Amino acid sequence: MRVLSGIQPTGNLHLGNYLGAIRNWVRMQDEMDASSQCFFFLADMHSITAHEGREQRIRNVRDMAAALVAAGIDPDRSVLFNQARVPAHAELCWLLNGTARIGWLNRMTQFKDKAGKNREGASIGLFVYPVLQAADILVYNATHVPVGEDQKQHLELARDIATKFNTDFGVELFTLPDPIIPKESARIMSFRDGTAKMSKSDPSDMSRINLTDDDDAIMQKVRKAKTDPEPLPERAEGLVGRSEANNLVGIYATLAGMSADAVCAEFAGKGFGAFKPALGELLVETLRPIRTRFLELRTDDAALDAILKKGAAKASAAAEPTLRAAYDAMGLMR
Ligand code: TYM
Repeated sequence: MRVLSGIQPTGNLHLGNYLGAIRNWVRMQDEMDASSQCFFFLADMHSITAHEGREQRIRNVRDMAAALVAAGIDPDRSVLFNQARVPAHAELCWLLNGTARIGWLNRMTQFKDKAGKNREGASIGLFVYPVLQAADILVYNATHVPVGEDQKQHLELARDIATKFNTDFGVELFTLPDPIIPKESARIMSFRDGTAKMSKSDPSDMSRINLTDDDDAIMQKVRKAKTDPEPLPERAEGLVGRSEANNLVGIYATLAGMSADAVCAEFAGKGFGAFKPALGELLVETLRPIRTRFLELRTDDAALDAILKKGAAKASAAAEPTLRAAYDAMGLMR
């Protein structure tokens, strides 16, 4: 089993990243046997699609590395690195650009969302982004890719590209990766709008819980989270059509390791005035140790750089055979 996943180092780790993806990364790392490997990386080459200054980009990569280690990624057991230090990703992306079709990329909903109305003005990087993501995965022949639901379409594209490359060049080079998507927390929604996913790019900071939020900020954001006036139902099916309520119950269930039905049973008939403080406490208890560790780790840039550099050397060695075979299959002499 080869586990791989990535995160863009733009802004802070938020609750959606944590519950949708990172918790699964840590679980898979902790359950890994001797024949398995885990690769986790900061997708800094992907972050060129957002405008950031040089200093900010450097800070963001180190901060995200600190956040992942604080959340439980152990650089001695998992290969942790930043993409820019492993040129195999960009090289394979270029080769796969010959295989990926414009029509496939045109269907990517994330591109449509991010480009908005001004598609002609969007960067080529934003359009080709999913091909780089396919290269990230295929260059390691990853078998399992733990992600939130929003990445499902990109994973399907990676499988399509792998299949077409293998067929076109008559090789069995690339492994088809399986997405690993959590059941309860696949899509954590904004605290301001239950129909929008929680995201780094939402202009309202009240819409998300950040890893850097202190206890008071967390309690306040939960208190102010949008809900409806109805009490909690007896069973989770009573949450249908109540997207904000459903989101908060889902978060509680995930953190407490309960089913949504069990959470409803516990709070049935009570209003959100009673539920929210309990949810806030649970969030504070979960995030406080991660935040404390994060704030410690981010003060030592040299240690973080050393971790990423060491990880990149291991990742490059793992990627090289596949990259070499891809060049060879295409008749490109290096
Ligand atoms: P990114 O940086 O947007 O998000 C990192 C991970 O967090 C998940 N996630 C969520 N899950 C549930 N609810 C939410 N509101 C939420 N918001 C984010 C994402 O699904 C993701 O798993 N393109 C990727 C990064 C990437 C990648 C890869 C992932 C680059 N190459 C190769 C896997 C494999 C991205 O932008 O994730």
